[in-house]
Amino acid sequence: MIWTIIILLIYNKIHNERTKSMVRSIKKQSFEGNIIMVGCGSIGQALLPLIHRHIENMHGCITVLSASESGRGIAERNGAQFIHSILTPGSYRNILNQYVRKGDFLLNMSVGVSSMDLIRFCYEKKMLYVDTSIEPWPGVFDNPMLELQDRTNYAIRNKLLKLATELGSDSPTAIVDHGANPGIVSHFVKQALISLNHQFGNPPVSPESREEWATLAKDLNISTIQISERDTQACQRPKRQGEFINTWSIEGFIDELMQPAEFSFGTSEEILPKGAHEHQEGSGTIFLKRPGASTFARSWTPSTGGFQGMLISHDEVFSIADYLTIRTNNKITYRPTVMFVYHPCDDAMLSALELEGNGWVRQPKLRKLESDITEGRDELGVLLAGHQRNAFWFGSQLNIEKARQIVPYANATTMQVVAGAIAAIIWAIQNPTKGLVEPEALDYKQCLTIAKPYLGTLIEEYTDWTPLEGRGKYFAEKLDEQNPWRIQNIRSRQWFGD
Ligand SMILES: NC(=O)c1ccc[n+]([C@@H]2O[C@H](COP(=O)([O-])OP(=O)(O)OC[C@H]3O[C@@H](n4cnc5c(N)ncnc54)[C@H](O)[C@@H]3O)[C@@H](O)[C@H]2O)c1
Repeated sequence: MIWTIIILLIYNKIHNERTKSMVRSIKKQSFEGNIIMVGCGSIGQALLPLIHRHIENMHGCITVLSASESGRGIAERNGAQFIHSILTPGSYRNILNQYVRKGDFLLNMSVGVSSMDLIRFCYEKKMLYVDTSIEPWPGVFDNPMLELQDRTNYAIRNKLLKLATELGSDSPTAIVDHGANPGIVSHFVKQALISLNHQFGNPPVSPESREEWATLAKDLNISTIQISERDTQACQRPKRQGEFINTWSIEGFIDELMQPAEFSFGTSEEILPKGAHEHQEGSGTIFLKRPGASTFARSWTPSTGGFQGMLISHDEVFSIADYLTIRTNNKITYRPTVMFVYHPCDDAMLSALELEGNGWVRQPKLRKLESDITEGRDELGVLLAGHQRNAFWFGSQLNIEKARQIVPYANATTMQVVAGAIAAIIWAIQNPTKGLVEPEALDYKQCLTIAKPYLGTLIEEYTDWTPLEGRGKYFAEKLDEQNPWRIQNIRSRQWFGD
């Protein structure tokens, strides 16, 4: 017993020393302006210490505007001025004008403050902008008066893409969707393509343009890319009836659960799932007339193996697929199927089931898992499938202990998100006039280098697992045995009604 304790103490000391030396070795970025952060929830709070680690002299140069008091203490301990302030479509300009000046940096770490409006504002003020998810003002995801399609991420992202064209490619840099996923996973895909190319014994490549990356994915025979995430974080007090539990924003997660399931449909597919609708003919983007919360799909991560998660709509399923698409004479000739399969922490999964079962009436108690987490990890990566070795996973395994060594009040999920956010912030400062961009436009090697110390262990692993494993044994299903990675095998049976 005593030896176990001594070994644990030595292990922890080595780990702590490694973390400290990692922090000491970071070359700090200079930045002349101030930072204004909207929102200070689980992500904003975890981001603040990283800003100080990566940017010189930011004490006294950060202002936090937040609709709730919850992040005040942490913001002030991180040398920020904290203003309790609720931004609305009618008030945000007046409020922001009190705190910003030309050359500042606006971080949108809120749930429910419009990315579009803040980006326009930053454009006018010549300010930089980063968010980790494209946010609309409230009243979209839970508005039954809207057409289903208008509640999709495809529709919201499309407005952003139009705005990007309108503002021009040399406007002040505004990076959307740069957390973990969306965000870092786009760089995981590029790193995984390079690794596969190398491991297959092909001549070395260093793609730069979108077309070169798409050609590499096609040449490697990647038919399917899953963003696969399994969160196993848990605390001693399990979920009770009437509680919604999650490891990050509960409001943000409920929005996602209530959106229609969406994914990108690739050229290896033949049959559209029942209830599937193309957003636009020939776009290769699909939404289902059913919520992500109860649209289940199969995926795989190294420590869990095969699992069933929810097919949650996320922007990276469009941006990655679009980036890797090849068109010939205006027709798509190569496009991977891309989807996000998410198994949140077990209590969040139960919360989602209860929420839908309760007719989408929110549980009276919302409980975010923070310092009470006693075990678990977030395993988040990309599974590239369909090639000569079946499937290859590349991603981050971060456990709660390691996350707390970096930021004591963070958890594994929030740490992975802020790893992406800080990489985007540094890239924006170094590249201030790149316009409104998605993660694929950033330098993947640089982003991974900045994010790596916060991602725990980065794992590369092949697997023989396919979504056919264990299928059709107890219940007959319409499966495509010849093409294991086709969508009719990945989906759960009820999509097709068979
Ligand atoms: N890309 C990723 O990997 C990833 C993962 C998790 C979260 N996110 C995103 O990060 C963002 C923050 O998530 P979180 O978990 O910190 O959320 P949270 O719910 O913990 O915090 C949200 C914050 O926004 C503030 N806020 C809400 N409405 C506001 C308003 N009108 N005016 C001012 N402040 C307002 C709240 O007061 C709170 O401080 C969200 O956009 C979320 O979708 C991205």
